[in-house]
Amino acid sequence: MKIVTIVGARPQFIKAAAVSRELRKKHTEILVHTGQHYDKKMSDIFFEELDIPKPDYNLKIGSSTHAIQTGEMMVGIERVLLKEKPDYIMVYGDTNSTLAGAIAASKLLIPIIHIEAGLRSFNLNMPEEQNRVLTDRISKYLFCPSDTSVKNLFNENIKENVYNIGDVMCDAVLYYSKKIQYNKPEYYFNKFIGLFSNVELGYNKWYLATIHRAENTDSISKLEEILKAFESLKYKVIFPVHPRIRVFIEELYSKYKYKNIIFIEPIGYIEMLYLTKNSEKVITDSGGLQKEAYILKVPCITLRKETEWIETLKDNCNVLCDINSDDIIDKVQNTIINKNWIENYYGNGDSAKKICYILSKKG
Ligand code: UD1
Repeated sequence: MKIVTIVGARPQFIKAAAVSRELRKKHTEILVHTGQHYDKKMSDIFFEELDIPKPDYNLKIGSSTHAIQTGEMMVGIERVLLKEKPDYIMVYGDTNSTLAGAIAASKLLIPIIHIEAGLRSFNLNMPEEQNRVLTDRISKYLFCPSDTSVKNLFNENIKENVYNIGDVMCDAVLYYSKKIQYNKPEYYFNKFIGLFSNVELGYNKWYLATIHRAENTDSISKLEEILKAFESLKYKVIFPVHPRIRVFIEELYSKYKYKNIIFIEPIGYIEMLYLTKNSEKVITDSGGLQKEAYILKVPCITLRKETEWIETLKDNCNVLCDINSDDIIDKVQNTIINKNWIENYYGNGDSAKKICYILSKKG
């Protein structure tokens, strides 16, 4: 079986790392990188660190408006599909690269395998929600990470070839967290590049924060509110800065000269797992990080009104929080979190194996 896989953004590299390893044991995979994420620290570092096969095609599309970015990706992907004539296309998650791959394949009647299908925030203002709903609608095989996502599809009358195989991100967390060198903080801290000052060693306790969603970063005022809260927290906040917010962060830093926030360049996956595993709490609007925190048993405060990963809300393992500095401070410092949860709703780390088994049976 020949499969063309589309990746383009940071979380997709991580998911593909887990699936490609299994897929290539029996099938031929052609890897296409759309170039949605292109900075070395947003892309190359993952391929090197996670041992992901080099992409067969890099479309180098880069950043633009949604329509230009998605449209240019579709043109490039169509060319690859016409040349490679695969049996299937495989797309991951909810980015513009996902949607572009799905539409290009659908028009050529190439069946689509959607990994991480069925997630819903029920907020259609989010570009990610639009991408998910549209991709699910035209996919042939829908591999869901949870019971909730299977139910979401059922409610939209999508019932055929829907499988709960657990979360491929869980495969990645369990596989790569074995590679963390837990006793060597200096090994990791030496790798971090501070944006405004050197990263000092020896923080015993920290919070880890990431913010990048359009809803939180399209204007500077929400970021200002978030950073105001971070500045007042009990422990230092380590904050790897996504390139989409860098200009705002520089502007706010020149005004407030934050002392409690350590802004660093984007970091690799294993460094991120290290920081997550050892943090007091994670504060984020990322979907991936909410789950990584859950799987690694680290409490999470999610700066959003809703989450697609509703299982993480049980036992207060994850808490939703408004963009309001008092609310953020209160939730981060005062939420009592049950650290003894044992349920893992996202599988045992064998999701990629299950995907490959089902595909092999279907032929
Ligand atoms: C995308 C996904 C989001 C995912 C996130 C992971 C969509 C609609 N959103 O958002 O679902 O959670 O990736 O990070 O596809 N930029 C750089 N260098 C890079 C990449 C981006 O400078 O390597 C900057 C550009 O200024 C760009 C901005 O970040 O305009 C946003 O990039 P974009 O491709 O829209 O995606 P993300 O915001 O990262």
